[in-house]
Amino acid sequence: MSGAATLDWLARPAQALRGRVRVPGDKSISHRAMMLGSLAEGVTRVRGFLEGEDTLATAAAFRTMGVRIDAAGAGERVVHGVGLGGLQAPRGPIDCGNAGTGMRLLAGVLAAQPFPSILVGDDSLSRRPMRRVLDPLARMGARIDASAAGTAPLRIAPATGGLHGIDYESPVASAQVKSCVLLAGLRAAGRTRVAEPHPTRDHTERMLEAFGWPVERDGRWTGVRGGARLQASDIEVPADFSSAAFFLVAASIVPGSELVLERVGLNPLRTGLLRALRLMGADIEVQAQGMAGGEPIGDLRVRHAPLRGIEVPVELVPDMIDEFPALFAAAACATGPTTVRGAAELRVKESDRIAVMAAGLRGLGVPVREHDDGATIDPAPVRAGAVASAGDHRCAMSFAVLAAAGTGVVRIGDCANVATSFPGFVELATAAGMELAAAPRD
Ligand code: S3P
Repeated sequence: MSGAATLDWLARPAQALRGRVRVPGDKSISHRAMMLGSLAEGVTRVRGFLEGEDTLATAAAFRTMGVRIDAAGAGERVVHGVGLGGLQAPRGPIDCGNAGTGMRLLAGVLAAQPFPSILVGDDSLSRRPMRRVLDPLARMGARIDASAAGTAPLRIAPATGGLHGIDYESPVASAQVKSCVLLAGLRAAGRTRVAEPHPTRDHTERMLEAFGWPVERDGRWTGVRGGARLQASDIEVPADFSSAAFFLVAASIVPGSELVLERVGLNPLRTGLLRALRLMGADIEVQAQGMAGGEPIGDLRVRHAPLRGIEVPVELVPDMIDEFPALFAAAACATGPTTVRGAAELRVKESDRIAVMAAGLRGLGVPVREHDDGATIDPAPVRAGAVASAGDHRCAMSFAVLAAAGTGVVRIGDCANVATSFPGFVELATAAGMELAAAPRD
């Protein structure tokens, strides 16, 4: 989780991407599997768990609170749940690394515990806004201190008299906020409900139901009643659509490509990029659909196709919030401009993704106009050059994809954090036909 500044990549133009690719397990679902498995009664077997730094940090957090989690093989975990009231006080601060999901969801779990705890993160996570979860938790009776700027470390004290349920209208469309409040609601008195300005990924709700906890859904409102029990349930984690996204874009923009991405999670609240790419003219077919771990999955067959620029429909934004760096790469290789609006949340992700992608694209000869809440990308041939990923995993991988459709060598700085979400990306991308290698600094 440290040392992000020491690994660069060299990415070269690729011939064509071909074959079948199985990307690692879904990050969002892997976090939740560790959390709910730990809080359940009984043994939860997880297959397809993401062996990334973010989700390993969440597993380590529960281990420090007395949960036995056995690694039974690559991507396999056996979680010996301790029940909703069974966590033990951690001995020291819990390190969430780079993971916003880990920290925000854990804040909801820990606010409801009878012991104090401290959540810390890396430099990027320590800059990210936490008031969005601290405000609703405080209204439930939680006692949490943060920095004056509303950032980590989060110092959590036991709530006097426990938490109580609330109806919370979230000003941001955020699955992390919704999930944090619902997880706190599991141990709160009465009913806890969250309303969102736009529906966001519902992995927490689906997994709660798989663990036998009723979830109330009523229009914009999602709610739980405190005091039930979580029953252990085996989980197969789908391949991460957000990781598949880099291959969807790469194969779309590199001539001659044809790839099949296997058993990818296709939760409709995650697949906005699929719809956006199709609007741009991408050739992507969904095959072999089924279910895994309460989530829809399928194989995605993608072939190269000429893309045209679009105005990304604003209602797609929450459903593709993690995929904008990849979309920027696609837009650079399209015909005609692409405009993104309504995506101000991109400025508070692992980096300011609008600024980082705009600077990188410009550095490679692609004009970008930044907006407060998005950008307009004017396609142009992608030149050789050097770009900074700012330690942001998704920006690093998006620049590699862009270079695959470019005209020269691109040096991408600070790529170590790719291991937070996509361990083995370089190997998998290379096997599919991309020209990508780690590069020592001179
Ligand atoms: C996530 C929710 C999203 C997303 C993040 C994972 C989750 O964040 O960007 O990568 O697992 O709930 P926000 O809730 O901040 O939009």
